[in-house]
This record gives sequence, structure tokens and C-alpha cells, in this order.
Amino acid sequence: MCCSTLTSLVATALADFAAILEAAKLEEAKARYLGKEGSLTALLKGLGKLPPEERKVAGAAINEAKSCIETALGARREALRFARLEAQLAAEALDVTLPGRRQSGGGLHPVTRTLDRIEQLFRSIGFTVADGPEIETDWHNFTALNTPENHPARSMHDTFYLQDAPGVLLRTHTSPVQIRSMLAHVEKYRGVPLPELRVICPGRVYRVDSDATHSPMFHQVEGLWVGKGVSFADLKGVIADFLRNFFESDDLNVRFRPSFFPFTEPSAEIDVAFMQGALKGRWLEIAGCGMVHPNVLRSGGFDPEQVTGFAFGFGPDRLTMLRYGIHDLRLFFENDLRFLSQFQ
Ligand code: FA5
Ligand code: MG
Repeated sequence: MCCSTLTSLVATALADFAAILEAAKLEEAKARYLGKEGSLTALLKGLGKLPPEERKVAGAAINEAKSCIETALGARREALRFARLEAQLAAEALDVTLPGRRQSGGGLHPVTRTLDRIEQLFRSIGFTVADGPEIETDWHNFTALNTPENHPARSMHDTFYLQDAPGVLLRTHTSPVQIRSMLAHVEKYRGVPLPELRVICPGRVYRVDSDATHSPMFHQVEGLWVGKGVSFADLKGVIADFLRNFFESDDLNVRFRPSFFPFTEPSAEIDVAFMQGALKGRWLEIAGCGMVHPNVLRSGGFDPEQVTGFAFGFGPDRLTMLRYGIHDLRLFFENDLRFLSQFQ
């Protein structure tokens, strides 16, 4: 056997290995040279046929070639393993310098905060909280509130009526819950002396209205206190106390402005001035109120000869505007997280 056969065998093996890109193929190539039927193994087997004096030299040369091939094989294995690792790292690359994705916790809507606060403050002075339907009868929303059909005051509210359902509408205010609360109270205490009724009724109401201070869906919180000798002075005291607590301030600009509602007499509207922001000093109407009209007490099953009462209807969306210095209430209903997250 001549040296050049071995040299070319080694060169072919090395070139073979270098061209291989997969580990499995590399093992197949190894078998071609070093396996039982491999070309180098064949040379080793052929040694026995050589004359003894040549055998030693040839054996040493073959072994050297073998170790050369084994070294190349080992190096290629390592190279392929490294390449695979590199590829995997590239495919699963993580940019640890990116900012994390924060899980936002969610939170209460500013108007919900206001509603919770109003409930808490009125509960603390002995009011209970009642609920009423948003789809209301004409009778509860208007007639029972001393606003019969064709009464001009009905046009004060631009009402959403329900198609194909005569006598039914989306309530325009929470005042119908006054009627429902009075009737339920009288029913509950039938046959025993009637205790005072002190209730607030928060909820959604609807009107065909839309600008910076009016939304077609908005909130109101009705309040009603009926009992012996309840007076307008009580109304003013309760409202003034509530506003001081709500805004956590003693020097609020509050005014009671004479007004008209068919269901109260006398009636007033309550304005509060903005305390902050671009609208500082500007008045915003926050509520209507007054002494409950005798006809309304009668609708609720009370005897106006025995008791008197006051009622009010706050606009909590407007209270929220004042509390946070917000000039457009439509922001409350647009669900823009940049706006809402400021209240968390
Ligand atoms: C009423 O709705 C009367 N029911 C209030 C009342 C109750 C008077 C009990 C007497 C006794 P008014 O339409 O003014 O009144 O509405 C009351 C308050 O709701 C307003 O002062 C205002 O704060 C708020 N409000 C009215 N319309 C809207 C609207 N479109 N968007 C947001 N808030 C409104
Ligand atoms: Mg008004």
C-alpha cells in the first residue's frame, strides 16, 4: 500500500466531514471510513497479507491516518453541536432590555367612586339605598310625580320612548324611585305607625341630550326624606353637610337657585363652582331639589296632612367633574384608558 492512497483517503474523509451539516449524516460518514465495512478498516484488515517487514511501517501509517480521521470527526461533531446551539439561541432570542409587560390591576371608574362615596355618606346619616327599573312606566316617571299627560313640564325632559310599548320609557330621572320607595314603605308598615322614610336611589337615567355637561345616559342619585315636620331647613342642612363631606372642604361656593319642578314646591336648583382647573369659579348645576308636593305624597300612599318631605336629585357625573376639575363629562363614557387610569 502506498502513502498517497492513505493521504487521499484522509483528505476525502476530511472533505466529507466538512461538507456535512447534520449530526446523523456525520455518523453515517464515520461508518464509511471507520465502520466494520469502512475503507480504513479494510486497509487494517489487509495488513496481515503484507510481508512482516512492511507490516510495521504500514500499520503505523494506517493508525496515524485513523487517528487523523477520528480527530477530524470529533472536531466536526463539536462544530455541529455548537452550530445547533447557536441556531436555537437565535431562534429563541430574548431581548432582556425590553420593558416588562405589566399586568394592569383595573380599578373603579371615577363616577363609580363618586356613587360609592355618596352612598357611604348618606348611609352614615341613616339613609337606606333603593333601586328602581331603568325601563319605567309613564305613570311612575311622570304622572305620579304630579306631571300628568300634556303637562308642559314633560317637555323639560327629552324622553326616549319605547317603540311598540305604549306607556313605557327609559326613565328620565331617578324620581320615579321616590314613588316606588314610598309605596313599598307604606306597604311594609301597613297597620302600624308609619316610621320616617329616608332613602337614596342611585342609578342610570336617559335623555336625548349631548354636550360637554350633558350625556344621553347619565347618573342621578335621588334622595327622599318623609316624616313629621321635615322642612326646607332640613333639606339645606343635609345638602350643605353632604357637600362639605363630599368635597372635604368648608369653603365651597354653593348656591340654591329658585327653580321649578312639578313634583316639589318650593323648588330649587343647586350650583357649585369649580374649585380648580381652567373652569375655576364657573358655576355648574349639580342637583334639583325641593319640598315634596302633596300630590306626590298622595301618589306614594302618604297623607300630606300628616307628613312633609324633601327630595333632591343629584347629578353624580357633574359632582365627579367638580371633584377632579374635569370640563367635559363625555370623557367619562369614552373608555379611554389614558383618561381612566389617572383615577387609580
Ligand atoms: C331632575 O331630574 C329632577 N328629577 C331632580 C329633582 C329630584 C328635583 C327631586 C326635585 C326633587 P334635572 O333635570 O335638573 O332635575 O336633573 C338633575 C341633575 O342631573 C342636574 O342638576 C344635573 O346635575 C344632572 N343632569 C341633568 N341632565 C344631565 C345630563 N344630560 N347629563 C349629565 N347630568 C345631567
Ligand atoms: Mg336642572
